[in-house]
Amino acid sequence: MLILGIETSCDETAASVVLGPDFLRSKKESPNITVLSNVVSSQIEIHKKYGGVVPEVAAREHVLNILPVINEALEKAGIKREDAPKKIDAIAVTVGPGLVTSLIVGIETAKTLSFVWNVPIIAVNHIEGHIYADFIGKRNIGFPAVIMTVSGGHNLLALMRGHQKIKVLGETLDDAAGEAFDKVAQMLGIGYPGGPVISVYAEKSKVQSLKSKIILPRPMMNKKNYKFSFSGLKTAFLYQLKKDKHWKKRIPEYAHEFQQAVIDVLVGKTIRAASEHKAKTVLLSGGVAANKQLRLQMERAVREKLDKVKFQMPDMAYTTDNAAMVATAGYFKARAKKFTPWHKIKVDANLEL
Ligand code: KG4
Ligand code: ZN
Repeated sequence: MLILGIETSCDETAASVVLGPDFLRSKKESPNITVLSNVVSSQIEIHKKYGGVVPEVAAREHVLNILPVINEALEKAGIKREDAPKKIDAIAVTVGPGLVTSLIVGIETAKTLSFVWNVPIIAVNHIEGHIYADFIGKRNIGFPAVIMTVSGGHNLLALMRGHQKIKVLGETLDDAAGEAFDKVAQMLGIGYPGGPVISVYAEKSKVQSLKSKIILPRPMMNKKNYKFSFSGLKTAFLYQLKKDKHWKKRIPEYAHEFQQAVIDVLVGKTIRAASEHKAKTVLLSGGVAANKQLRLQMERAVREKLDKVKFQMPDMAYTTDNAAMVATAGYFKARAKKFTPWHKIKVDANLEL
């Protein structure tokens, strides 16, 4: 089964073709999902000068890029444009959450292709897409699984009892961790997006003397719920900077402590959720899952603190926004026959999981 995925929820125009088996022996089987192409046209260079994504600019760029990106994804998958209607079994498209003017470009394109090719559409939630990045390749994921999915736009812990059975355990009350990375990097004046730059600075951090050590809070880490809050951490960070006349000489130490505060909260809550819900697998996903330290520390915590629990995270290419994850989520929905007629597909900027 070949699925074309389309993703335009924020500032990446992406298209991908994935291949999954037509038939499965059982519902529990973990099929091998092969990515035949994964094309991402990023607008980071354009939005960098504004320090964040400008929705109107992003939408215009999507309009310019969407057809060339889809064309390239088909070509790289070895599918001639004229053969696409015969070969593609379904079109999976992100319908929300995200920027409405960006989402609409992907959705209208998917609707048009569905109409012209006579191929069904599958509506995919962007967060579900991030979760399904963990199912790309030959994976053997045991349920129940506890998922920490964290990016610039969302930050949540979920429990997955099977395909199409995802329940949110808790999410952020304010900022997502990725958003906090972006804002803190902006305070330090070190660039956009914040996650990758902060992690590079954090690597250069030296051991600090106890007297001058930067200490930031770990918001809600010990609360017995699965909610998050990173806005206070951002404010605490700003106060520390204001108090320190020499902060410009200590950017690596600030970056390190901030990154560690976020990791402690994400790892701590994930381990507690996994143990409470007797998870067989812990999954990590979303743009922040590109963070090397988070990957290492989450893996270590699962190994050391949980008994016989497996850990899965996406390959780096499938952490930040891409369409292979959307196509993969689409594949599992296609198996459950969850299609939506093209005239019923709607954008939902605040779509919940
Ligand atoms: O999933 P994504 O591409 O877009 C959203 O759905 O929001 O995630 C982007 C977010 C940004 O906030 C970015 O700073 C963060 O992921 N990010 C990272 C790293 N790479 C990207 N955060 C921490 N460390 C990284 N290496
Ligand atoms: Zn995303």
